Amino acid sequence: LSYAALEKERTLALIKPDGICGNFANQIKQVISQSGFVIIHEMMVQLDVRNATLFYSEHSAKSFFPNLVEYMTSGPVVVMVIEKTNAIADWRALIGPTDAGKAKVSHPNSIRAMCGSNSERNCVHGSDSPQSAAREISFFFGEISPGIMEHDEL
Ligand code: PPS
Repeated sequence: LSYAALEKERTLALIKPDGICGNFANQIKQVISQSGFVIIHEMMVQLDVRNATLFYSEHSAKSFFPNLVEYMTSGPVVVMVIEKTNAIADWRALIGPTDAGKAKVSHPNSIRAMCGSNSERNCVHGSDSPQSAAREISFFFGEISPGIMEHDEL
């Protein structure tokens, strides 16, 4: 195993409006901690149309985009930076497939199976690559993570 493979990684985890409305936030955070992640930053925010449009800009051409923006602005969300070895892939595996209805059949132990309903109301989000994680973490928590800044200033 290389040293790089053991290095901690950070990803953005987001509890969507249905997760908050359904009172699943604590349960989701419990799964996060029990799965070996450390919650580094956490805040509750109400996205406006501009923020939601920017956050999901890569999907702006999709037919579901207006629904996605409307849904993501329908109530508060909780955004978190979570950390562990292989955090990006492991968080995606833990949340399960996008369509929470299908997840209930194919991945019954996933978070989306536990508390989501369909492709829109799927209760959580996770960054899908190191590039997305960097972009999404800085979108909510500032330009450069403190760890990187310290390193750059050396
Ligand atoms: S794609 O086309 O494969 O890139 O899209 P996908 O990864 O499946 O989904 C990207 C995000 O869009 C949400 N989504 C939807 N919202 C509303 N309605 C419909 N039909 C729909 N289909 C997908 C999906 O939940 C993804 O959100 P995030 O927050 O990235 O998980």
